[in-house]
Amino acid sequence: MTARRVTTIAQMREVCAAERAAGRRIGLVPTMGALHEGHLANVRLAAEVADTVIVSVFVNPRQFDRSDDLSGYPRDLAGDEAQLADLGEASPAVVFAPHVTEVYPRDPAVTVTVTGLTDRLCGATRPGHFDGVATVVTKLFNMTAPDVAVFGRKDYQQLQVIRRLVADLDLPVEIVAAPTVREEDGVAMSSRNRRLGPEDREAARVLPRALRAAVEAAREQRAAGRRPSVEVLRRAVTDTLRTASAIQIDYVEVLDPETLAPPDSYGRGEDDETEQEQLLVALAAHVGPVRLIDNVVVGDAQDEARLAPHASE
Ligand code: PAF
Repeated sequence: MTARRVTTIAQMREVCAAERAAGRRIGLVPTMGALHEGHLANVRLAAEVADTVIVSVFVNPRQFDRSDDLSGYPRDLAGDEAQLADLGEASPAVVFAPHVTEVYPRDPAVTVTVTGLTDRLCGATRPGHFDGVATVVTKLFNMTAPDVAVFGRKDYQQLQVIRRLVADLDLPVEIVAAPTVREEDGVAMSSRNRRLGPEDREAARVLPRALRAAVEAAREQRAAGRRPSVEVLRRAVTDTLRTASAIQIDYVEVLDPETLAPPDSYGRGEDDETEQEQLLVALAAHVGPVRLIDNVVVGDAQDEARLAPHASE
């Protein structure tokens, strides 16, 4: 089914009002386009939890901290629409693709800032990024008033930021987290993967391997009757990443998956064991022209299983 393309906020509100009046539950999947199987999985998930699915396609300039990243960001609306049409029964009803001047008709005087959760990880290395994300997501929620919205776990910090935004501003939208979708060789799907040359793409395979090293290190520690130590997990990841010379590490962090702060009991010594059942292991690395992120929640059996070695490794 081909989705209807909507480009103005007024039109979007009309469509949503009609759907709501008909008693249909609205699901939003916010994207910046350049859709891949990861996005399509989010759309399928939205189709399971909502009656009318809207996919927004908007490359939000306010969340880019580098102009070359913004100008080089892949854009292919016709290709995106074709992929969505191929979803058959799970195809969205609407593709909301506003022009940048529709979303930002003037210099904005309002910015939505989520504090605390944005102190580390990409919040620390990409100043202003999450202000841009929180602001545009608030605007998209106001434009579509969805009952439910789907965000991927690959952007783990973004997911937590949105959850907190919704909780603190009492926004009436349910946030559903979609699992990370991986390529055959374990590399997490990302629109930025398109910009990797063959050698960089090969080098990128070290990212899931590094996360798996953390999962294995935690398992070994548990098998030895110990609780995982933040430093041991971090070292497992960095040592693995360093085996690929083409990779430049931006960060490797082991944090509390809820607060994104250092876990309880961390900081008392090199071999501190944490009492937390689950630990977020997150990394960002420059691979050739792009910066890639990935993560795993150690102690979350399903998340760990998705990192299991793939057939083509
Ligand atoms: O994850 C993304 O693609 C973007 O950050 C989002 C949520 C669509 C906001 O621009």
